[in-house]
Amino acid sequence: MAKIIIIDDEPAMVEVIATLCREKGHQVFPFNSAPKAVEQLDSIQPQVVIADIKMETMTGFDVLRHMREHHRQAAVILITAYGTVETAVGAMKMGAYDYVTKPFKIDELQLTVQRALDYQAALRENVYLRKELKNRYRFENIIGTSRKMQQVYNLINKVADTDSTVLIQGESGTGKELVARGLHFNSNRQHHPFVAINCSALPENLLESELFGHKKGAFTGAVADKRGLFEEANLGTIFLDEVNSMAPPLQTKLLRVLQEREVRRVGDNKSSPVNVRVVGATNEPLQPKLRDGTFREDLYYRLAVIPVEIPPLRDRLEDVPLLVNHFLQKQASAAGGEPKKIDPAAVDILCHYGYPGNVRELENAIERACALCEDDLILPSDLPPHIVSEAQGEKADQALAAMPVGQPLDEFIQQQERGYIEATLSHCKGSREKAASMLDISMATLYRKVEPKNRK
Ligand SMILES: Nc1ncnc2c1ncn2[C@@H]1O[C@H](COP(=O)(O)OP(=O)(O)OP(=O)(O)O)[C@@H](O)[C@H]1O
Ligand SMILES: [Mg+2]
Repeated sequence: MAKIIIIDDEPAMVEVIATLCREKGHQVFPFNSAPKAVEQLDSIQPQVVIADIKMETMTGFDVLRHMREHHRQAAVILITAYGTVETAVGAMKMGAYDYVTKPFKIDELQLTVQRALDYQAALRENVYLRKELKNRYRFENIIGTSRKMQQVYNLINKVADTDSTVLIQGESGTGKELVARGLHFNSNRQHHPFVAINCSALPENLLESELFGHKKGAFTGAVADKRGLFEEANLGTIFLDEVNSMAPPLQTKLLRVLQEREVRRVGDNKSSPVNVRVVGATNEPLQPKLRDGTFREDLYYRLAVIPVEIPPLRDRLEDVPLLVNHFLQKQASAAGGEPKKIDPAAVDILCHYGYPGNVRELENAIERACALCEDDLILPSDLPPHIVSEAQGEKADQALAAMPVGQPLDEFIQQQERGYIEATLSHCKGSREKAASMLDISMATLYRKVEPKNRK
């Protein structure tokens, strides 16, 4: 049971909403004027405030602003008769939990209230879960408790201590490098070097001498002997990032290193043995490149002895709240001081976005929000606008998808109308006279609309 304040200057509307909330067992505090409700906030301490946007003297936005300043723990749901995207986005930006468009379906409002309450509970729980699961599910500083990430942890736990070659595949920003480091620092090679090289960053010949080293005089500019990264990484791990971009001649040389476990410097005629664990990463699936011959199949099977696939963030949005917490703490330890807080409405927006840039994009959004926000509380307005509008669109699409379609419009409108009349009637304890007056229609109209035999 929650305490819910309802504010609308139309008494009938307040009554209908109050009935719907009471039906779900909540304790309701109805008000016809916003200033009166605001006066009572301290003594009531509501979990949810439902307010109409369009009211005289103090609008729903004014109420929302007041709540954000003085009662941040309560979720605010706004009711709008217009439902324009601007109003909705404005409400969300200002930190409303959600909005409901009039006329709403009976269970729509009840569901929105329930989601707001569940959400508050989940946030409280996450703080607890974070501590609880710390050692069970956290692989170093890799955050995420989704099933998909747990599968990744299980796999890397199993293979960390082996010398098997690992190929990590995942879109840009999914944490491939983090996983590669996790593998190394959880293996028995952890006290030896971890050497990372991005294979797409250098032209072919430079990459070759970087990886394998060169002899003095091997090419113009090779003024002295140079050890390659494989030798640097001896006894440790070498991380070949974006190995998919490696040119075919180099692929052949890499294959030889993997097979023979020895490297030959450019310009040298003898090889020396290396003991290195190889971890590769690719941000595109390699199968098409195998098919068109741009990536050697035999090298692929050497590299992908253990393939690890990191799922994109959009497939594990349930990890977003934990990641948000993590990045807030990361920002705080970089800047010094306490981590900033984040408004639940902002977290909700972050949970409804598709993240083409994956975790890195989320991290950047949090960094930006920490820089923009005032009062140490991140609000929806501190998030990048494209994230807010896409999340808003996503929520609207979900609402649309939940609508029953395939019905003639007349029939749908009649159904809605009937639901509303029935709610009013039940509120008036079956008195048709009271209901008609509350609905501001004649008794005859009421009869016509509710008598089954008169329905089309
Ligand atoms: N699960 C995670 N938990 C915490 N931080 C993460 C996680 N995944 C990614 N990050 C952070 O996101 C950023 C990007 O991660 P990383 O560099 O490992 O991605 P990547 O897959 O190598 O990306 P790219 O393909 O663009 O090189 C880093 O700052 C990393 O710390
Ligand atoms: Mg990377």
